[in-house]
Amino acid sequence: MEDKLHAIREEALQAIEQASSPAELDQIRVQYLGRKGAVTQILKGLGKLAPEERPKVGKLANEVKKGLEKALSAKKEELEKAVPEERLITGFDPTLPGRRLPYGSLHPITQVMDEIASVFIRMGFSVEEGPEIELDYYNFEALNIPPDHPARDMQDTFYIDDKVLLRTHTSPIQVRTMEKRQPPLRIIAPGKVYRCDSDVTHTPMFHQVEGLMVDTDVSFADLKGILTLFVHEIFDPETSVRFRPSFFPFTEPSAEVDIQCVMCRGKGCRVCSQTGWLEVLGAGMVNPAVFRHVGYDTEKYTGFAFGLGVERIAMLKYGIDDIRLFYENDIGFLSQF
Ligand code: FA5
Repeated sequence: MEDKLHAIREEALQAIEQASSPAELDQIRVQYLGRKGAVTQILKGLGKLAPEERPKVGKLANEVKKGLEKALSAKKEELEKAVPEERLITGFDPTLPGRRLPYGSLHPITQVMDEIASVFIRMGFSVEEGPEIELDYYNFEALNIPPDHPARDMQDTFYIDDKVLLRTHTSPIQVRTMEKRQPPLRIIAPGKVYRCDSDVTHTPMFHQVEGLMVDTDVSFADLKGILTLFVHEIFDPETSVRFRPSFFPFTEPSAEVDIQCVMCRGKGCRVCSQTGWLEVLGAGMVNPAVFRHVGYDTEKYTGFAFGLGVERIAMLKYGIDDIRLFYENDIGFLSQF
């Protein structure tokens, strides 16, 4: 019986040593120390042994039992400690820092719009907004462009019906603001505008920032001063600015404002078509016909207005030669800003 116990102990210790999981250890425990386990059976059968054998076998069986219990719990501890390592191999480590989610940034056009707005806000202008779905009256008529006027062809319009359209410029906000407020006025109006137009420098949806200043003695000199300061703030103070005569039905006189080409510094290149100049905005003194539509006294008040293309400014600022890049949602392009 003693030899049998020694053999059981050897066999069990070997099995415990080789066990690779707590579940396997549990099976071993049941096999040797469970109710019908090998060691338990011997302990239960002690009574059937010869009286002189009983104490020796009993002692040994208890020693084997205790030894196996100890070995089982030592191995259990070892296996439990090994679990995190095992998990580490399978890729799960709760102590590692979490994965960072990629975070976005403002669209470059939004950034440039904010920058433009902040330059004018610092000069005392406040911000106005208007609807993108606009009445023909505000987009054209009140701006001195009656039906059938040839100036309507200057902007290819998306009409919704005879009287409703997608605004082609931010100028209707001039009229909406003057209808509800009296001079002195100093506002800018940033927003989306729409035209049926698409190539490397034109998109069907783009952004403008409108400006309007009305008071008792606003002159063309004020317009020149403010717009020159604006260009110097947005580009750099060395950039030359040029005012070219132009035509808009809602301003008289009107001008288009060019800046020295930022790519070649006025020497002439592909971007400025070898002219050394780039057009950035339209402007002029508010036509008295517009003041009459909103009931302003044309003898008392004068004003200037301007409208600039935000994409155009962004292209010049960042040296981008295709406007469509802004609207392709290419994360590689957008994440550079
Ligand atoms: C106007 O829209 C006038 N409302 C501007 C104005 C306001 C003049 C107040 C006088 C007083 P124009 O059509 O030129 O003007 O457009 C102004 C700017 O918008 C252009 O200089 C150009 O930079 C930009 N622009 C025009 N069409 C597009 C287009 N399809 N895509 C991107 N930018 C455009």
